[in-house]
Amino acid sequence: MKELIQKLVEAVGPSGYEGAVREVVRAEVAGLVDEIKVDALGNLIARKGVKSPEGLRIMLSGHMDEIGVIATHVDENGFVRFTTIGGVGAATCIGGRVAFLNGTHGLIYMEKLENSGHLPGIDQLYIDVGASSKENCPVKVGDVAVFERPFIDLNGRLVSKAMDDRIAVAVMIQALKELKESPHELYFVFSTQEEVGLRGATTAAYGVDPDLGLSVDVTRTGDTPKGVKMDVGLGKGPAIKVRDSGMLADPRVVRWMVQTAEGAGIPYQLEVLEGGTTDARAIQLARAGVPAGCLSIPTRYIHSPSEMVDLSDVLLSVRLLVELISRPIQLG
Ligand code: CO
Ligand code: ZN
Repeated sequence: MKELIQKLVEAVGPSGYEGAVREVVRAEVAGLVDEIKVDALGNLIARKGVKSPEGLRIMLSGHMDEIGVIATHVDENGFVRFTTIGGVGAATCIGGRVAFLNGTHGLIYMEKLENSGHLPGIDQLYIDVGASSKENCPVKVGDVAVFERPFIDLNGRLVSKAMDDRIAVAVMIQALKELKESPHELYFVFSTQEEVGLRGATTAAYGVDPDLGLSVDVTRTGDTPKGVKMDVGLGKGPAIKVRDSGMLADPRVVRWMVQTAEGAGIPYQLEVLEGGTTDARAIQLARAGVPAGCLSIPTRYIHSPSEMVDLSDVLLSVRLLVELISRPIQLG
């Protein structure tokens, strides 16, 4: 599983440019599903099984895209100005490195600040790619890049860029590998453009037209020094979302997830997240509305180049996901 995670997090796929990730996913799921489609937005939609009388059509969604940057201007000395793809903060950029899709590498630094007590804005940062003029700069306006940081295993705590949300992509692939039987028609959706507003999941949910939807995504934790007040921590099991800033999870879905975890003896945490949302919001609001929830993987330092998960939480998330989709569901 660790090799699968490493392969996925080290693939490059900022929002709108998920092609390389999609090919990794396609190779992993090809022998495990009955049908694979890619829609106009680039979502990879893998179907397994058909609906039986006691089954539902279920959409699972984990996003392939990651946050990044996009060049807006190259000055006469070859310094690249940029804006963000998704939620990128200046504090996590300075001194960091980026890799452009065209193979160019660079580092981010900042102008001299007038007020050194304040963080700079993104507009005060630039990328140095080693060029000395606009003419010899290998980056042009519109080129996109992701943060560059190798995968490391810190004693069972896995750290990398793009854990949001490749860790969920890994969980979904592993669940497919471990799933033995299901009465449901299952759509494993590896979605695009989540970080810029759930765009892939929006079209995928319309196309799949599910009876029930679950996203798999990361959530924050409250277990770091003077961190946010939040009752989710690393190493305490998967989190079952109750609420985030874009969705109230369907209470019937929450109850089903809690009962399934308790029945299987899987430790879990209840999640109330104050900032951010997931593909589940797009599923819930699709067409005439869909009961939806989210299986969350506790993650520290989300949207930084070094996002951290606990391997035991990841493995328990696979177990919970397999339990959830293996038998008939009574939402009650
Ligand atoms: Co994110
Ligand atoms: Zn995410």
